[in-house]
Amino acid sequence: MKALVVYESLWGNTAAIARAVAEGIGEGATALSTAQATTEALQGVDLIVAGAPILGFALPTESMRDSIEKNPAHQGHPPDLAHPSMRTWLEGLGRGDSGMATFETRIWWSPGSSAKRIAKTLSALGYRQVAPPERFIVEGQYGPLKEGELERARKWGTALAKTVTI
Ligand SMILES: Cc1cc2nc3c(=O)[nH]c(=O)nc-3n(C[C@H](O)[C@H](O)[C@H](O)COP(=O)(O)O)c2cc1C
Repeated sequence: MKALVVYESLWGNTAAIARAVAEGIGEGATALSTAQATTEALQGVDLIVAGAPILGFALPTESMRDSIEKNPAHQGHPPDLAHPSMRTWLEGLGRGDSGMATFETRIWWSPGSSAKRIAKTLSALGYRQVAPPERFIVEGQYGPLKEGELERARKWGTALAKTVTI
């Protein structure tokens, strides 16, 4: 099975979860940033797992990313804005019929859901949702991930792999 776990991650929490999900899926799975997950990389994929943080109660918008870039309040935690937003990646994604699942990283109490937003877009493009949107929790605004979340992500990846028959 070929699986790609695609992520947008400014401070590394979503990237760490993506790598753990790929580990859990096992052989044939790779975690890639939105910059690395090119049309070429997606060729022949059986399962796409896509994840992003919630920022400002939503899947990060371009204006949110711009304001983060300009806001000195974030200088103690320099964001990685070198890869495109998940929104931009989804805009460039063609139709497909492979399996898909989505996740978000977030603080526990927040409204909004990046995972649901991504799933809605992927469904509209024809991808088949194989599991409900999942959430992974951070302890502070920039992380770290709550204890046990990486292990939970690995297990979630293993469960996702079982939904795909090829
Ligand atoms: C500027 C900013 C805004 C945030 N807004 C939200 C939010 O609305 N809801 C939420 O649950 N978490 C929010 N968070 C927490 C992030 O979702 C969390 O740190 C996430 O894991 C970041 O992912 P990343 O490390 O992959 O970039 C915010 C964090 C920052 C720095």
